[in-house]
Amino acid sequence: MSQVIELKSHPLVSHNLAILRSKDTDSQRFREAAQRLTTMVLVAATESLNTVEQTVETPMQKTTEMVLAEDVWFIPVLRAGLAMVDVGLNLLPDAHVGFVGLYRDEESLEPQHYYKNLPDYSKSAHSCFLMDPMLATGGSACAAIDLLKAQSATEIRLLTLICAPEGIKEVFTKHPDVSIFTASVDERLNDIGYIIPGLGDAGDRYFGT
Ligand code: PRP
Ligand code: URA
Repeated sequence: MSQVIELKSHPLVSHNLAILRSKDTDSQRFREAAQRLTTMVLVAATESLNTVEQTVETPMQKTTEMVLAEDVWFIPVLRAGLAMVDVGLNLLPDAHVGFVGLYRDEESLEPQHYYKNLPDYSKSAHSCFLMDPMLATGGSACAAIDLLKAQSATEIRLLTLICAPEGIKEVFTKHPDVSIFTASVDERLNDIGYIIPGLGDAGDRYFGT
């Protein structure tokens, strides 16, 4: 599959990216812009979910609509992924939530795993939406995907707000079956692993730390 869907050409996406990136945006406005962008990325990422026809009786007559035919799981990568999970639950209150806790070692940039709460996905038809606003080296995303696959997850999409090309390449090399949905593919990583132009540290800006 190996596809990256970038939404930046949409004016609402670009407008909100400007707010998100600006060093003058405070935590509250940062959170609000992140939530709006997550909504737009999530709508795009859920377009291909499996559906089944259901009959509905309106006050006027019977009709049919297509309703979801699989379990949807949102899996935020702690901490910054928490910025995205409430948006998912607002759009789809019946979704389930799993958790992966990872942070990047500041020196080595290697992901350090500290928490996991995931089910056995082999038991039912499912789609997993891995949520992390930043894809930099790709180490954290690949570690999180490894954890999902160890639980027999097969349908995995990665939702981010900003990606570096280096991270996309890493994910596609290690997990060619995973599609990436993002607001923006940025230019590059700098020599300490931050995305350029990026937005700085997403977790710190979202949580005001
Ligand atoms: C950030 C971000 C990703 C990771 C991306 O998390 O939310 O998880 O960095 O970098 P990578 O692609 O090079 O692995 P961070 O390690 O800052 O942890 P935090 O969310 O707890 O702040
Ligand atoms: N994590 C972030 O929060 N920002 C970056 O630019 C890279 C990794």
